[in-house]
Amino acid sequence: METITFSDRLIERLAAATHVAVLTGAGISAESGIPTFRDPGGLWERFRPEELANIQAFLKNPALVQGWYAHRREIASQAQPNAGHLALVELESLSTRFTLITQNVDNLHQRAGNRQVVELHGNITHTYCIDCCREVTEAEMTAFEKGEAARCNACSGYIRPDVVWFGEMLPHGAFEAAQQAAQRADVFFSIGTSAIVYPAAGLPRIARQHGAYTAEINVQPSAIAGEMDEVILGKGGITLPLLVAALRAHRS
Ligand code: OAD
Repeated sequence: METITFSDRLIERLAAATHVAVLTGAGISAESGIPTFRDPGGLWERFRPEELANIQAFLKNPALVQGWYAHRREIASQAQPNAGHLALVELESLSTRFTLITQNVDNLHQRAGNRQVVELHGNITHTYCIDCCREVTEAEMTAFEKGEAARCNACSGYIRPDVVWFGEMLPHGAFEAAQQAAQRADVFFSIGTSAIVYPAAGLPRIARQHGAYTAEINVQPSAIAGEMDEVILGKGGITLPLLVAALRAHRS
């Protein structure tokens, strides 16, 4: 049985907060059975990003890249939000203002019920044509034979997932919204992210520079753990329900 403790300061700051902001990474979905990127057995250990997650790789072999994303889309759609996702929905309902910033593309925060979600790296459930930019439905995607590249019905352009690949800009307005939330937050959590990929990894620092109390939740210290006010070691699915319970207890 894991023992998790939160400082009194964290619970007091959280109870008094007007705006709570949360940054999540792949670790929040690990307990839903979705592999992370950099943990042992993670996606970047088994697959090469340069062959799958950039526009050059896609144009070279669209069917391969589409197939990899179809596989990941299937895993995400079969997965269920875990206790960590559900606790973040509760935390949103207990907060006056709440922003959930995620690097995940699996759609699990939205399916769990969070309302204010900023998607920094896109959403794997959306697909669009690279030529006419039309949003394409799942049914249109699956009408193609295995091994054949899926193309747009309207203009025959290749269809790609609406996710950010290496070398690409973040979706318009997403980072600005995340930055604004970090600047306004009274408490900022960084949860289940290795904090290696920028600009997302810079958000806790922005929050702290603007006066937020910053706390990390992770099974191991991230690359920026030394900059946080507090590091809580444990799984998201265990620590987050305990955090919400501690907040409720403090308020009652
Ligand atoms: P990583 O795979 O880099 O990091 C996952 C983090 O989750 C690690 O720090 C783990 O220690 C932690 N972790 C694992 N299981 C956990 C659990 N049950 N509870 C809490 N923490 C846990 O994933 P990200 O930081 O999300 O970008 O990676 C950032 C970006 O790199 C991704 O969005 C993706 C990737 O390249 C794009 O695809 C654009």
